[in-house]
Amino acid sequence: MSIGQPVARAWIDRWDAQQQAYLPDREDRFTVLIDAVQECAGRPDPLVLDLGCGPGSLSVRLLDRIPAATVVAIDADPLLLALGRAAWSDLASQLRFTSQDLRTAGWSTALGLDRPADAAVSTTALHWLPPAALAAMYGEVAGMLRPGGLLLNGDHLREDEADAPRLARLGRALNEREDRHRAPDAGGETWAGWWEAVANDPALAELVAERDRLALGSNHHESPSVLLGVHVAALRAAGFAEIGTIWQHGDNRLLCAIR
Ligand SMILES: C[S@@+](CC[C@H](N)C(=O)[O-])C[C@H]1O[C@@H](n2cnc3c(N)ncnc32)[C@H](O)[C@@H]1O
Repeated sequence: MSIGQPVARAWIDRWDAQQQAYLPDREDRFTVLIDAVQECAGRPDPLVLDLGCGPGSLSVRLLDRIPAATVVAIDADPLLLALGRAAWSDLASQLRFTSQDLRTAGWSTALGLDRPADAAVSTTALHWLPPAALAAMYGEVAGMLRPGGLLLNGDHLREDEADAPRLARLGRALNEREDRHRAPDAGGETWAGWWEAVANDPALAELVAERDRLALGSNHHESPSVLLGVHVAALRAAGFAEIGTIWQHGDNRLLCAIR
């Protein structure tokens, strides 16, 4: 069953709206991330990997800003990949959606890249990986990047209470204060609501069934890698030379590692 482009784009518009409601700085974070890729790419046609790409929101913004780039967009979710492929079919020569589980060793070899990547980027995805899988995944990313290439991970990453208890508590308190300052929820679609609506669209029934078979679920209460220190230690072990936060709002940050 193929999905029409207008249908896929409408679902992605709804995806972006619900993500934006959780992440008011989402577009700013995309912009800084793409600025960093542009700044360090060293060529007009960089090869970029989008890890946990979902329906391709970051990939298409990157191609909009860097039209000669090639993006390999990686995700394990057949429904999100199908929406991305259908919505952005006119970009297919430069945007390749590929199904890989980032927890499975060897995913990087399966991509069949013919040159080292200039950057690996990710937004709101890598906290889903358990720490051991995250470390192995960063190791594979390091193996694919050229020397000087960037890993850019935009996500909510907290200070570890065990290492910096007062900083961690202060960070949490500031997040809670910001939540209280923010205007009350205007009743937009939630993450769960989006998935429920998708499940009720007959045009997506086969893809929903495929997701169900893979037991991917949409209930995402587990976030095993939300500590900043877990990412920094894993990146260091993977051989990245320099690691630091290059943009931040509360614990929403853009972590950058240079190979
Ligand atoms: C909240 S979404 C973010 C999607 C997109 N990066 C964005 O910013 O809109 C998290 C994504 O991570 C993907 N993901 C989670 N675990 C994964 C894994 N083990 N392998 C590949 N993708 C994974 C999910 O399927 C989902 O598309």
